[in-house]
Amino acid sequence: MIAIACDHGGYELKNEIIKHLTKKGYEIKDFGCESTNSVDYPDYAYPCAKAVAEGVCEKGILICGTGIGMSIAANKVEGIRCALCGDTFSAHATREHNDSNVLALGARVIGLNLALDIVDTWLGTDFSGDSRHIDRINKITAIDKR
Ligand code: RB5
Repeated sequence: MIAIACDHGGYELKNEIIKHLTKKGYEIKDFGCESTNSVDYPDYAYPCAKAVAEGVCEKGILICGTGIGMSIAANKVEGIRCALCGDTFSAHATREHNDSNVLALGARVIGLNLALDIVDTWLGTDFSGDSRHIDRINKITAIDKR
């Protein structure tokens, strides 16, 4: 199950991503928002990220105007490694190297087709499992505990 959430800046792109992923057979849990009326992105980032951190959903996608606010908020949740991506190279690398479990997108920064390519790349790439990457991720987890 993929968790997804947006603010008003990401509402239209969220709907396109839901359509795209549903067609591909993914199950989606939509945490809002429900329109282009102005809302506060942390209110939507938090429940979506929490669902991933608690294992209710395996991965999450967050969309706001820039993707920045959503990624900052999501990374406050223990166990979340949220990557803001504006290109497919980063989307691939962050899955292989960081085992990112949430993807943030900036709907006012990238176009629809690039956004869908990034989503497909990110969802379609496995963590490498290399020990050096595991060690680095463990060091990120250790920061949570300080
Ligand atoms: C909303 O106007 C905008 O600030 C928000 O979508 C996002 O870009 C914040 O980081």
